[in-house]
Amino acid sequence: MESASCSGQELLTWRRQQLLRGGRAVDLDWLLAMEANLSWAELQRLRILPESIAPLASTLQDLEKLWAVHLQDHVPLQHLVGRCPWRDLDLRISPAALIPRQETELLIDFALDCLQDPSATGWASAGRWADLGTGSGALAVALARALPGWDGHAVDLSAAALELARINLNALTTSLRWQLHQGSWWDPLECWWGQFDLVVANPPYIPTQVVDELDPLVRDHEPRQALCGGEDGLDCCRAILGLAPQALSPGGWLLLEHHHDQSDQVLGLMSSAGLVSSRARSDLSGVRRFAIARRHL
Ligand SMILES: C[S@@+](CC[C@H](N)C(=O)[O-])C[C@H]1O[C@@H](n2cnc3c(N)ncnc32)[C@H](O)[C@@H]1O
Repeated sequence: MESASCSGQELLTWRRQQLLRGGRAVDLDWLLAMEANLSWAELQRLRILPESIAPLASTLQDLEKLWAVHLQDHVPLQHLVGRCPWRDLDLRISPAALIPRQETELLIDFALDCLQDPSATGWASAGRWADLGTGSGALAVALARALPGWDGHAVDLSAAALELARINLNALTTSLRWQLHQGSWWDPLECWWGQFDLVVANPPYIPTQVVDELDPLVRDHEPRQALCGGEDGLDCCRAILGLAPQALSPGGWLLLEHHHDQSDQVLGLMSSAGLVSSRARSDLSGVRRFAIARRHL
């Protein structure tokens, strides 16, 4: 069998050659970390000690093939390696679902913050959460791990996305208290309406016209159903908010991720729906990308 490891010098030369073909250094180093198990720290060590061995879990030839497909066909690296780190998780990824984004990690922190509210209802031991539009199951996995005594529900319209979510939930949680439901937003959860204490959703929110102008990496490889939010991008937010006052428990929280310029509109929709305590939250760049509100107590 071909040995994967090589000298540091060989690796550094190879890396320079790949970058001359195109692409970003940060992405190539991500590929080295995810596919060849070569950490950023190890790469720095090899720069100082190029004569030492570069411990690679994958051959340079195989890495080169993946890099070429990424450059030529604009295939996301996450699809090529089938995995994606997200929060403290190593998620399985496929073209069936959106690649979970870094900013969405914050939705979990904001959700757990809501439960620290002094008027939150008995959350420490038990409750019911839902993840509407679960995709890969990233948010559902994080909630199931953070709230092991709660019952959880992950919903998606796409059967293929739900299959991926099932793989991630099975692999990354020990809880057996989650269920998957195929259907539209609250519809498959009707028998629990009025009982949801915490609901998160990162719905498709990109206006149709903008979807067509996205980078081919996104537009041609991520499910359109995960991206397109209708003419103004807010169709899914409206659908979710329309039934939220019935579906949430008294005092129950709803957290939505939205597009960079939709904060005022989503907060307005929350108030029109009759939810209270609405507030915006920002991503790590300071952009208001999240809206939070609750059903009155
Ligand atoms: C932006 S992706 C979010 C995926 C995942 N929650 C995340 O944050 O990475 C939106 C998801 O909503 C799903 N979706 C679209 N329309 C839906 C609907 N009417 N009901 C339920 N899910 C829907 C899509 O299939 C997709 O998985």
